[in-house]
Amino acid sequence: MNIDQLMDSLTRDEKIALVSGADQWHTKGLPHLNIPAIMVADGPHGLRKQDAQGDRLGIGDSKAATCFPAAATSANAWDPDLQYAMGQAIGEEALQEGVAVVLGPGVNNKRSPLCGRNFEYFSEDPWLTGELATAWIKGIQAVGVGACIKHFAANNQERWRMLNDSLVDERALREIYLAAFEKAVREAQPWTVMPAYNKLNGMYCCENPELLDSILRKEWGFTGATISDWGAVNDPTLSIKAGLDLEMPASWGTSAAQVRQDLSSGRLTEEELDRSVKRVLELVMRSKAQKQKSNCDLEAHHALARRIASESAVLLKNEDNILPLAQTQSICVVGQFAEHPRYQGTGSSLIHPTRLDTVLGLLESGEVEVDYTYAKGYELEHDGINEVLISEACEAAAKADVAVIFAGLTPRFESEGYDRTHLDLPPSHQELISRVAQANPNVVVVLSAGAPVTMSWLDKVKGVLHTYLGGQGGAGASLDLLYGKINPSGKLAESYPLKLDDCLAMEHFAEDRNYTEYRESIFVGYRYYDAAEKDVLFPFGFGLSYTEFAYEDLVLSKHGEPETLHVQCTVRNIGSRAGAEVVQLYVGKSDSVLFRAVRELKGFHKIHLEPGESRKVEFVLGGRAFAYYNVEIGDWHVEPGEYQISVGTSSRNLPLSGTVQIESRLSEVKVPDYRASIPAYYHLNDANTRISQADFQTLYNREYPQAYQGPERFHNNSTLQDLGVTLLGRLVLAFAKRYLWKMTGAKDENDPLWIMSWTSTLEMPLRSIVPMSGGAIPARFVRGLLSWVNGHRLKALRMWIFS
Ligand code: BGC
Repeated sequence: MNIDQLMDSLTRDEKIALVSGADQWHTKGLPHLNIPAIMVADGPHGLRKQDAQGDRLGIGDSKAATCFPAAATSANAWDPDLQYAMGQAIGEEALQEGVAVVLGPGVNNKRSPLCGRNFEYFSEDPWLTGELATAWIKGIQAVGVGACIKHFAANNQERWRMLNDSLVDERALREIYLAAFEKAVREAQPWTVMPAYNKLNGMYCCENPELLDSILRKEWGFTGATISDWGAVNDPTLSIKAGLDLEMPASWGTSAAQVRQDLSSGRLTEEELDRSVKRVLELVMRSKAQKQKSNCDLEAHHALARRIASESAVLLKNEDNILPLAQTQSICVVGQFAEHPRYQGTGSSLIHPTRLDTVLGLLESGEVEVDYTYAKGYELEHDGINEVLISEACEAAAKADVAVIFAGLTPRFESEGYDRTHLDLPPSHQELISRVAQANPNVVVVLSAGAPVTMSWLDKVKGVLHTYLGGQGGAGASLDLLYGKINPSGKLAESYPLKLDDCLAMEHFAEDRNYTEYRESIFVGYRYYDAAEKDVLFPFGFGLSYTEFAYEDLVLSKHGEPETLHVQCTVRNIGSRAGAEVVQLYVGKSDSVLFRAVRELKGFHKIHLEPGESRKVEFVLGGRAFAYYNVEIGDWHVEPGEYQISVGTSSRNLPLSGTVQIESRLSEVKVPDYRASIPAYYHLNDANTRISQADFQTLYNREYPQAYQGPERFHNNSTLQDLGVTLLGRLVLAFAKRYLWKMTGAKDENDPLWIMSWTSTLEMPLRSIVPMSGGAIPARFVRGLLSWVNGHRLKALRMWIFS
């Protein structure tokens, strides 16, 4: 039967069943119609296949799969081909396990370095993210497994993630927060898109027709299915109307009841439901058409994971060319990360690796023949300073030629479900580095962290190799880089501020549960630091190599119709080692009446060069590379005039630059000029500039959301924490706490699994309890709870006892 025939054969109840999950991970199967249940699973840095009742949040186990470097890591390779290869490998493992769709990639643009989930996202730059995500999606879909690009959209904080409303002005939304989604959807057509938990400009993403229909489908031409983030559906009927196709996970009958009722009352039409049913069927049929692969080459996938880790590590400092190390030097390996690597983040992306290399294990096995000692340096269970371990480390380090300290953020510091509160390393790691550096002048720090950190100790050490979260092969990659078997070529995909306060977005980050004003508009990451002329610890695009590259001969020429700008230059390896360079191209327009970033990344190429070798690199820039989003015409627009083109090795080291005159197809369009109305956006380099709420409101130009004004004290979007002011609420929380202790197996309140699950529980809106508990807490219990805390006790009792 084709899909139209199937649609005709479905009863109304079957249709309603199809738009909601059957359990945590499956769609509803209808065997009598030969409609199978398909399985979706996390990702995105490997396959996280749990059983049907799985808990999602990384608490329960999952099938072993290759754990690739997290997106924050692999982004530093600036290499779409590697992303493609990773997508393909994950797809092969998914096929083997009968998984139809992998829930990734995560492409949210990093707004604040504190977002707990930044390790799952690529970059602070939408161009870079868009290129990498597009390649990943093409890779996984090439083997017949669907991608699910997430979290659509402006999902930039974990605090109150299921309730928060991101207030983003239209231009920033298009240029910063939607641009990577747009590119990936247009160019890679992911099978599915995951609308996010949060609201965007007053509406839940899952029930936002502008996002799900006007932009995603009508403008970008998306033809796949939308799948809600887990437990994100607020009102199932509004969601279907807006263009959400599949609610996940199962709502255990609650949504079905509502949809049935709304179909009867006419609040939802049969056509609206059919639209979603059809897309779910298309997704199921697409998956069904794929052949299961019998055997993945897990060895090859491990080698790929290691290779990606080695291409992604960023050499941040190399004083006196302390790196690469020579095997003749004795080393003292310091820090338990050498034994228990920090190689991935906590939460739904947690992978159970097929194997896990460790630096100590590899040294023991003779992978690098070197005279080494080992000192633990710090405890893993907590982040407090351990004087005994530090003294042992100093003593051992003093006897070696070089001390290599493995340090970074412990899992408590970054996770799904909660945000970081500062940028510092744990006190135990900071103290260890400073003290070992007093014992031995030759210190190299190998950092593991999924997001920017401050480095108060930077002046005291000679080398810093940042490996981010390197996946299961990360340890081998570190050794390859430390010993020069591979020349570091990673470049930071995000800026490292000197201090948290330097980041403009931090002025309004997760401070209010109802909404977050994105007052900084387009000034995110380097776009802000450059406009504000602020020094940074390390700029976007930065990364050292064991060799050096010279940039020569910039040539700009225009070709064709529609006209494109060709930018050519020559890059020469002037050092004595082979190496790779990421050649970066930025575009700026300094004389615009519109406020703009000083420069924006609009192209990059990664090239490998032998010593002395040179290569011509060419970029072809189309209209989009020069366009801003014009809110007046509701479209992209190229402002005619002079543009600055710069090429180089980081956003702050651009040895080649030139200017070019660009024409506009729409030269009659007026470029918005806010110089008189909101001058603050033009003067970010003035330390006294503040973007006031009035400034932002002028730009935002929409109503601010109203706080809940319903008749009852508590409602469906009250959280369990809100209910804590009532006796019953406290009892429920106490019960939940006991249950979570057991379920997570956490030893103390510092365990990241504990922090994540407890925070998620406190911040969970009542409406999500049924799906998020996997149906263990029934709807009548939640409804009764709500009635009780609102003072309708008889009604509550009736619900608990009779319904
Ligand atoms: C996360 C998603 C994830 C889903 C399923 C949600 O809590 O936000 O990224 O794919 O759970 O585990």
